[in-house]
Amino acid sequence: MTDNQIPLAGVIGHPIGHTKSPKLHGHWLKTYGLPGHYVPMDVAPEDLESVLRTLPKAGYVGANVTVPHKEAALQIADHVSDRAAKIGAANTLVFQPDGSIQADNTDGYGFMENLLAGAPDWNPQDGPAVVFGAGGAARAVLQALVEAGVPEIMLTNRTRARADQLREEFGPRITVVDWVKAGNVIENAELVVNTTSLGMQGQPELRVPLDGLQPGSVVTDLVYVPLKTRLLQAAEEAGCTTVDGLGMLLHQAVPGFERWFGKRPEVTDELRATVLG
Ligand code: ATR
Repeated sequence: MTDNQIPLAGVIGHPIGHTKSPKLHGHWLKTYGLPGHYVPMDVAPEDLESVLRTLPKAGYVGANVTVPHKEAALQIADHVSDRAAKIGAANTLVFQPDGSIQADNTDGYGFMENLLAGAPDWNPQDGPAVVFGAGGAARAVLQALVEAGVPEIMLTNRTRARADQLREEFGPRITVVDWVKAGNVIENAELVVNTTSLGMQGQPELRVPLDGLQPGSVVTDLVYVPLKTRLLQAAEEAGCTTVDGLGMLLHQAVPGFERWFGKRPEVTDELRATVLG
C-alpha cells in the first residue's frame, strides 16, 4: 500500500453470507471517521493461498479469516503468534509492507474480554471452570482460561476422545469428564462455558442437567443466536451471572481493527445494536 491509498481489509470465508464482521468494522470506521473499507470475500479453499498472496499487493492491510479457512491460514502465514499456534487456527491476519503474512488468533482474547466486561466480579483464579465442547471454539476458550490462571478446567464433550486430545495439548489443569456426567460437576464450578453449537437456532438444545447451577456462578454461552439460550435462561433463574456470546464476536475484532486502521475501537451498546440490527 502506498501512503495515499485507502487501507482495505476484509473477511475471508466460504460461504460468507452470514458474517457480521463487515457491519462491525464498518460501524467503527464510520464512528471514528477513518478512511478505509472492510469487505466480505467468498474464497474457495483451493484459492486461499493465492488470494492471501495477492491481497497485500492490492492495498489490503489485513484480513479476518473464518470457516473453513482458519487452520489453512495458519499454515500459509509467514509468522504465527504464540496464541494462534496454541489454538491451531488463525482468525486475524496482518499483511506487512513486504507482503509477508502475520497470523494471530484473537478468539480467546475476545472470549476473556467479554467475560470480564460482563462479569466484572469474576476472578479467574477463584475456582474451577466447566467447559462443554472440544471443537475449535473450545480450543480458543481453553487457551484463554489456562493463560488467565484458572486452576482447574473440567472439560466435557460428547466425543470423549476429542476432549482427551485437548487435555494432552493444554495440560494437567484440565480434567476430562464424561458427557453423561456433565451435570454432576456443574455445582462445583465458578464458571460454566458452552462452546458447542447446541442451543443455536436450528440446532438441538444443550440437554445437560442444569439443576446443579449455583447462585453466584458465572455462566456464558458462545452461541449468540438466540442471545438468551436455554443455558443462559436456566442460569438466570438459578441466580447466576450470565454473559451472552455476542460480546466475544465484538471483542475479538478489536486487535485486528487497531492493527489495520490505527485506532483501538470501543465495544459499545451502540455497536451491539448495529450488529444485531
Ligand atoms: P467449533 O469450531 O464451532 O467449535 P466444531 O469443531 O465442529 O465447531 O465443534 C462443535 C462442538 O459441538 C463439538 O464439541 C461437538 O461435539 P463432538 O466433538 O462430539 O462432535 C459439539 N456438538 C455438536 N453437535 C452436538 C450434539 N448434537 N450433541 C453434543 N455435542 C454436539
